[in-house]
Amino acid sequence: MHPMSKKKKTTLRIVPDNWLDPFDFKAEFTHPDRPLEIDIGSGKGRFLAARSGKFPEVNFLGIERQLGRINRSGRRCERAGRENVRVFRMEGYYAISQLMPADYVSNYYFFFPDPWPKDRQQHNRLFCPKFMDALFRTLTDGGCLHVSTDHLPYFADIYELLKKDERFEEIPAFVPDEEETTDFELIFAHKEIGRCSFRKMS
Ligand SMILES: C[S@@+](CC[C@H](N)C(=O)[O-])C[C@H]1O[C@@H](n2cnc3c(N)ncnc32)[C@H](O)[C@@H]1O
Repeated sequence: MHPMSKKKKTTLRIVPDNWLDPFDFKAEFTHPDRPLEIDIGSGKGRFLAARSGKFPEVNFLGIERQLGRINRSGRRCERAGRENVRVFRMEGYYAISQLMPADYVSNYYFFFPDPWPKDRQQHNRLFCPKFMDALFRTLTDGGCLHVSTDHLPYFADIYELLKKDERFEEIPAFVPDEEETTDFELIFAHKEIGRCSFRKMS
């Protein structure tokens, strides 16, 4: 092990003992009965740290595939004393479609999901009809999902997918406050940002 690697780890990371069946993520929190909100592609954790401080009675899970970012976001939340945050290193589609229990998540946040702009790359995008099924299955009745991105063609595709899906209804778009604004939104502050939010119909 690299001598520095131990120092960089976070104690907030969840590592399931079974990677094939639904996993009780809520049981990993100090207060398992609280609602669960998930930031997918949580990056360096700026939103997680801010939002979890604003709503200490809600549990927050960051899902991110890059190990460095998982550790960085976890340490950021540890330093802020957030007992209501956990982080999970996993690919988002697999995490939601295979590991997340049904009727479980109150809010999903997708901030600046990778757009995979070239035609030959687009099969890598998170949002597709199968992913919509996974979101619907795992959201609680009345649960919401929130999307923002500077990549307007990808935004148009996501919006169309959601708008035509009769299992969801549009609600006013979530706009983060200054503290919650993610690193990528800060980078793209000069650009137009597409935002939308939808609620699962009961
Ligand atoms: C453009 S960055 C945005 C990060 C953060 N949400 C923000 O707004 O600053 C996209 C992030 O999503 C992660 N990511 C991309 N695709 C993912 C996937 N399929 N599953 C999990 N994480 C993913 C990337 O590693 C990266 O950290």
